Amino acid sequence: MRIRSMLSMQCILAAMFSIAGENVIKVDASKALYPTSADLWGIFFEDIDLSLDGGVYAEMVRNRSFEDGNGSDRELTLEYWNPIGGAECFLSKKPNAHPNDRHCVTVRGYRGAGIANEGYFGIGVRKGASYNLSVALKGDGVMAVEVALEAYNKPALATARIEGVADEWKTFNVTLVANDTDPQARLAFRFLPNRKGGRCGMEAQLDHVSLMPADAVAGLFRSDLVEKLAALNPSFVRFPGGCWVEGDTMKDAYRWKTTIGDKWNRRTQWNIWKYWSTNGVGFHEYLLLSEALKAKPLFCINVGMSHKETVPMDKMGEFVQDALDCIEYANGPVDSEWGAKRAEAGHPEPFGLKYLEIGNENGGKEYEERYALIAKAVREKYPDVQLVFDNWKETKRVDDPKDLRDDHFYDHPDRLMGDLAHEYDNAKGDFGIFVGEYAVVRGTHRYGSLRGAIGEAAFMMGLERNQNQVKLAAYAPLFANAQHTVWTPNLIYPTTLGSFVNPSWTVQKLFSENRGAEVLKVDVTTGTFETKTDFAWGKGVNTNVIENVQASAVRERDGSVILKLVNCTEEPQAVRVEGVKGKAIKTLFGGGDRMAHNSHAEPEALNESICTIDFDGVDAMPPLSLVIYRFEVIGK
Ligand code: AHR
Repeated sequence: MRIRSMLSMQCILAAMFSIAGENVIKVDASKALYPTSADLWGIFFEDIDLSLDGGVYAEMVRNRSFEDGNGSDRELTLEYWNPIGGAECFLSKKPNAHPNDRHCVTVRGYRGAGIANEGYFGIGVRKGASYNLSVALKGDGVMAVEVALEAYNKPALATARIEGVADEWKTFNVTLVANDTDPQARLAFRFLPNRKGGRCGMEAQLDHVSLMPADAVAGLFRSDLVEKLAALNPSFVRFPGGCWVEGDTMKDAYRWKTTIGDKWNRRTQWNIWKYWSTNGVGFHEYLLLSEALKAKPLFCINVGMSHKETVPMDKMGEFVQDALDCIEYANGPVDSEWGAKRAEAGHPEPFGLKYLEIGNENGGKEYEERYALIAKAVREKYPDVQLVFDNWKETKRVDDPKDLRDDHFYDHPDRLMGDLAHEYDNAKGDFGIFVGEYAVVRGTHRYGSLRGAIGEAAFMMGLERNQNQVKLAAYAPLFANAQHTVWTPNLIYPTTLGSFVNPSWTVQKLFSENRGAEVLKVDVTTGTFETKTDFAWGKGVNTNVIENVQASAVRERDGSVILKLVNCTEEPQAVRVEGVKGKAIKTLFGGGDRMAHNSHAEPEALNESICTIDFDGVDAMPPLSLVIYRFEVIGK
């Protein structure tokens, strides 16, 4: 663990506050209530708000195969491409091409005519970095193609020259090395005609344009963003949605079989979050990402329901088959039909798909029937795969107590600090809970805020204390390109050259770093305060009774105790802890303005601080803070 400073400024300040009220925390370190859940903290990775394309997927060229449409109506356009050097550019159909790969662009003109791609709100180029370009070209009258990464009013950042363009499609691979940094470059292709092209004008066609940073993880993922995920140390990765699984109508629903195989033959697809998805990160790449993160895959499949349509029961056969085949793809032997496809894609070893969720936010009788149908087939063939059902509308309980129930919470910080912090205090059933999506979405900033993060920390205390029933949990959503935020807030905001995080990210990281092996009994004596908030999705006002301080404690296998405290108030709080004391590492997060947040301009406005202390049982918590004490084992 990184020790930022032995006695940080924040620790000193905390000790200097004038304190109102005392809170007594009694930890019973002698008695463990139950083991912690091995997979409690994971991530929910939905393809939402350009989180894959334009986010974690390292592809820098947008509309790379000229299959993107205009809105959901599928009328193709040349979006994100611009003619340069007086070129005439238009979309052309490719005869006898794969049905998902029918178009390319034609460029006509004289010397220097060409086309440029603007990427995802610009292409971020870093001095000294290498970028691998691949492009399919075909042309008449072309001597050479000059490729450049270039930014407004600057000399070219990187250049390369391609020769050998002929009448047949040919793929060219070149590496561009940047001599400068720019967050908003473009990728330009300029054609140099031969004698024939110079006289009569040249004509060339481009397709399958890809530009990837050479340091992409597995050749696929932005390394800086994978680092942000790895820091969360997730136990599982729920993917790919969310509403993205459902689609608005069935034609836009996520069907994993259209996301595997040759990337140029995958379906480019209208995403309910208002952009076109390449499916360049499909089912296989998702499994690779989970593996890279050492996390268990939790795949979510379409149950035969979109937001507006439901597949009739007599047409559900292919959905049942999709469920069985995705497990075979992930886990089956290489001589099985789908296991062979996995091996062909370069991964003969099974991925170990552990969890399968059937549907997302689907409910009611129609859901129950379809869930039961798919679940029965999966249980018969793959009894070891843990199934997850949706808690949505009136569907509270489906089928089998061995399945996990997926509960979602999006609300105001006051609700998460109030009733929702105690949602699971009295175990409600003989089945496990997966809190598949939760976040503060009201009363916060669009990039999240300190008070939002502290609200979630209070809620997470309740999840941590109740691990006899709560088995898995994930904040939602994980990523949004900082320029495309249909949904706010999100956990991590990629920009072209970097990213900044919601303060909630730090809370997620700290909980994940401090999981423990057993849950301990903690009693808290504290004051309360009241607030009123509108209900999120319904009419009326809710009165929230919020405890000043929330607590939760766990014990590691070596006997060391981890105590977490949250100060929900906007005043300092004095705490007296009984049952644990001595040498400890103290991590402090918070203590600022309720709307404090990170941003593009100030990516590290909020950070945790860490110090070592000799804890005598008395401390002061800054306003809106999370404090974690990791005690040394007594006698060590
Ligand atoms: O996380 C954002 C959205 O919220 C998800 O797509 C959906 O499951 C929920 O309604």
